[in-house]
Amino acid sequence: MKLYHNMEPSTFPDSIRLYTHNCRLYDTGITSRYRTFLVQGDQPLYLKIGGKGSLSQEKQMLSFLRSTKACAAVVAFEQDNAFDYLLTAALPGDNGATPTYLHSPKHLAGLVGESLHRLHSLPTGGCPCMGPGQSIVERTKQQLSRLDAHLAKRLELLGQLITDDSVVHGDFHLNDLMINNWHLSGFTGLSHSGLGDRHYDISRALRELSRYLGNDQYKDVLLDAYGREFIDPARLEYFNLLAQQGI
Ligand SMILES: Nc1ncnc2c1ncn2[C@@H]1O[C@H](COP(=O)(O)OP(=O)(O)OP(=O)(O)O)[C@@H](O)[C@H]1O
Ligand SMILES: [Mg+2]
Repeated sequence: MKLYHNMEPSTFPDSIRLYTHNCRLYDTGITSRYRTFLVQGDQPLYLKIGGKGSLSQEKQMLSFLRSTKACAAVVAFEQDNAFDYLLTAALPGDNGATPTYLHSPKHLAGLVGESLHRLHSLPTGGCPCMGPGQSIVERTKQQLSRLDAHLAKRLELLGQLITDDSVVHGDFHLNDLMINNWHLSGFTGLSHSGLGDRHYDISRALRELSRYLGNDQYKDVLLDAYGREFIDPARLEYFNLLAQQGI
């Protein structure tokens, strides 16, 4: 991690400066539409900064999930004219895209499957946000006419099965899974999280694993660890087909 120089912590809102004052900020180097820093003080914290409004869903979902141990606790959240600032307590361990874990792909695939199943088993009552699921089906309907007729028909049929029945991550990357000594420490990157179809996350996780490992060898390990009885192959096929089409 690089010590962060280009952003001036003196410009942070007061409620955030309260925590960053006299601390060193290290850029996690993860490239996305956000910048995330390790704030090294008495207690390690993570500060995520994004455009105004871009982190309010994540903040709401972190608060909703606070008693579940599925993610970090919110320490502070602030908005100014341009940015959102989300400060969370550090989850112990390292993320799933680090060499320690990538070097044991079978173990990692199993832990990804188990961890997603844990997230998807959480109670959904009172979930404040919507994640990917039926909203994607609605969006896809607008695009069916430009697809091959056979594929469009299949998507139309499978789309009817999509159900928003679980709390989903909504934008799963391997580096959003924090692992401590081969145990789930918590999920990060919850800015698209909410009530959605769990097969969206499973499809995404399978692709992430293949992308990092360069092969499909551990697909079945992930699915077995998740629990085949909880997977509807037709709903999974729907999201796999959309991804193949770049939708
Ligand atoms: N509370 C936390 N505890 C430990 N590590 C964290 C925490 N928050 C963030 N991180 C680390 O910082 C990285 C980036 O954080 P995060 O996933 O929230 O942002 P992002 O990947 O830039 O955006 P997003 O995942 O929302 O697209 C994570 O992969 C993780 O390694
Ligand atoms: Mg992330």
